[in-house]
Amino acid sequence: MPIVRFVREGRDVQCRSGENLREIALREGMQLYGFKGSIGNCGGCGQCITCFVSVESKDQGALSPLTEIEKIKLKNRPDTWRLACQAIVKSSLLVLTKPQSPPPNSQKLIEEALSKGLPK
Ligand code: FES
Repeated sequence: MPIVRFVREGRDVQCRSGENLREIALREGMQLYGFKGSIGNCGGCGQCITCFVSVESKDQGALSPLTEIEKIKLKNRPDTWRLACQAIVKSSLLVLTKPQSPPPNSQKLIEEALSKGLPK
């Protein structure tokens, strides 16, 4: 079973291959949304662009390919960013929630999380 390693929260969450990343994050009580998204979001339709995550593991194929919605909505955003509601987990990965406001020690957290390795 894949692991989603939430870097900011310091938690590993087991999931099934094929699960939606937004649903995993919400089920596990992660703070996926910033202020704007927490007061109102589209519920996973790919319209509000408030469910950003950054994929910090090297294997960019751990999630389903960018959807057409993401190709439009993520234009001019870093290549590592995804909309959690549009992403399906295929294998283990590391994600940073709310990459638009990273914690001050985010690079250190990412390096530590990467150093632990991930199951396939
Ligand atoms: S929840 Fe609105 S774009 Fe993902």
